[in-house]
Amino acid sequence: MKTLILKPSKKTFNLAKKLITNGELVAFPTETVYGLGANALCDEAVKKIFVAKGRPQDNPLILHIGRKQDIKKYVKNISKTHKLLIKHFMPGPISIIFDKAENLSNVACAGGQTVAIRMPENKVAQKFINYCNLPICAPSANTSKRPSPTNANHVYDDLNGKIKLIIDGGETLVGIESTVVKVENNIIYILRAGKINKQMLEKATKLTVVDKIDSDKIPQSPGTKYTHYKPLCDMIMVKSDIVNNTIKLYDNLVASNKKPIIFCCAANLEAYGNRNIKVLGKNSEDASHNLFNYLRLAENNFDCIIAEYFSNGDMVDGLFNRMIKASSGKIV
Ligand code: TXA
Ligand code: MG
Repeated sequence: MKTLILKPSKKTFNLAKKLITNGELVAFPTETVYGLGANALCDEAVKKIFVAKGRPQDNPLILHIGRKQDIKKYVKNISKTHKLLIKHFMPGPISIIFDKAENLSNVACAGGQTVAIRMPENKVAQKFINYCNLPICAPSANTSKRPSPTNANHVYDDLNGKIKLIIDGGETLVGIESTVVKVENNIIYILRAGKINKQMLEKATKLTVVDKIDSDKIPQSPGTKYTHYKPLCDMIMVKSDIVNNTIKLYDNLVASNKKPIIFCCAANLEAYGNRNIKVLGKNSEDASHNLFNYLRLAENNFDCIIAEYFSNGDMVDGLFNRMIKASSGKIV
């Protein structure tokens, strides 16, 4: 199968609609990462997503909509708290869990009774979904376990030959996936950290917000239990005595004939002299924007990525969560 990469245009959206209506897959940009979309009302189409990505079947997909008023078509019980979340954060980088309506593909919901709904803010994503005039379920458009794609080339590298179309909307803004939240008894639980953080949720809703990220033995959000975002080379995170430990690790690797690279905060650049460095940014927002792209750039040219912990900005939790997974939990 030939994989086309096309810029957004009327012709592209028409082709995308034709493919989705015929049960094929289309990759598209969102403000977080690129998604791999299929018609969420068709089991056969949705199954292709799991095959193309090599994704475990017990991991449910997020349902993407192009208009807020479509939410009620696919869910039961929209509570007051749900309404508050929708009002303040949609469209945007949030996925809200509801009880699912009967019409949705059971394959998309991995056999469960709930569905996560997301309305992307990205205009190309909205146009694509509204053109198709169908609910689009979409995971990140990477091979399972790989870093999520933040540009069309990342998608091509993972899925070339497996899908027919990638809509190229340029680089994604946020760089890490949406915050996943669920509501129970007027308490908001964060199942996956993202740009919309605990403080923002508390401020907007005046409700209790609880972090449930990986805190339970049984993962609340099935996707969080798998190894994720792993680059092809080793990776280690440094959270304590950051500069000294980073230098120590780097120099030890060099002494054993390895080729390491440091992913650092702009403020620490000077400390590393002429060692191999990539500045991820000045805060956790910049670093989130760059992380997956830099992982993919570094993985083939270096033996080990030594990544600094970022403690500043609004995306500290979301970034840390991705970095610790990419490092398979290795942290000093
Ligand atoms: O930003 C994003 O969310 C991107 C873009 C494409 O929208 N999508 C994305 O999808 O990251 P995916 O499939 O890679 O990650 C979805 C996460 C997984 O951890 C999954 O387990 C969780 O959301 N999830 C989906 N439906 C759920 C549900 N009904 N209950 C609990 N967790 C759910
Ligand atoms: Mg994913």
